[in-house]
Amino acid sequence: MLKVDGLSVRAGSVELVREVSFAVGPGERVGLIGESGSGKSLTALSLMGLLPEGVTAAGRATLGDRDLVGVPEGRLKRLRGRELSMVFQEPMTALNPLMRVGTQVAEAMTLHGRGRREARARAVELLERVRLPEPRQLARAFPHQLSGGQRQRVMLAIALANEPGLLICDEPTTALDVTVQKQMLGLIAEVAPALLFITHDLAVVASVCERVLVMYGGRIVESGAVREVFTRPRHRYTEGLLAASRLTPRGTRLPTIRGGVPAAGHFPDGCVFRNRCPHADDRCESAPELTGDGHAHACWHPAD
Ligand SMILES: Nc1ncnc2c1ncn2[C@@H]1O[C@H](COP(=O)(O)OP(=O)(O)OP(=O)(O)O)[C@@H](O)[C@H]1O
Ligand SMILES: [Mg+2]
Repeated sequence: MLKVDGLSVRAGSVELVREVSFAVGPGERVGLIGESGSGKSLTALSLMGLLPEGVTAAGRATLGDRDLVGVPEGRLKRLRGRELSMVFQEPMTALNPLMRVGTQVAEAMTLHGRGRREARARAVELLERVRLPEPRQLARAFPHQLSGGQRQRVMLAIALANEPGLLICDEPTTALDVTVQKQMLGLIAEVAPALLFITHDLAVVASVCERVLVMYGGRIVESGAVREVFTRPRHRYTEGLLAASRLTPRGTRLPTIRGGVPAAGHFPDGCVFRNRCPHADDRCESAPELTGDGHAHACWHPAD
């Protein structure tokens, strides 16, 4: 269904995402993890055709038989919201504060050619589907009258309005409190046709996704079934990421990955992780390829 092949994203001469390839099959839920600045959002935004000014994508990405990269904005507009949709982290900035939420959900459908009356009726159905209480009254509310969790549900309703084949979520629950977060995750997992889920939260990936992609320095450094990757990580970056997220007994030191993520354009040549890796040697000066089917990794000195 979604097939990404050699996707690169750059801002001027700086390469921000490099030769990323992966696929999301029908009904599949795939997590995309990695520290801040690893290129997760840019990867997602390039699939939506929503890259910021001055940032460009190259390579190939297809959804079904449609191209997503390097196609004119007009054609992408017709795909967005209909074939693929995205839910962002902060719903307050994505919703129009001056428009009733029901109208905003309906507009997502009239934009793609549905009649006004039908769209309004279906908007209420959608609000109900994302488990908002009293959907008929709620449709008449303005965004500021809703809680953060309710606003995020409205965003999900908008994303689902035209029954897209793929849903992309970028940190959709980080602004919510823990219980609301849980409900939202359950809902996303239930309603998403196929899902690309971006998060820092490894526990969330473990509960929502079947497969995971680990990104660092704009590349996918490891990928595979969640259970495989989380119990037997191969790339030293994944190993560090998992160790740092594990609960440690009181009084012991929390393991961290040494150093910080370099700024874009300042990653080392060869293996992007080698300046922070405890196992790096001369060999790591040349770039390892992502190899292995099923559970793949790009590391010269893998664990295991
Ligand atoms: N408009 C831009 N121009 C130049 N560089 C950018 C631009 N947007 C993002 N970057 C850089 O690209 C890199 C990847 O950014 P991206 O937002 O994809 O990271 P991320 O993995 O989503 O991080 P986070 O977890 O913090 O959301 C970062 O180093 C960022 O500074
Ligand atoms: Mg991001």
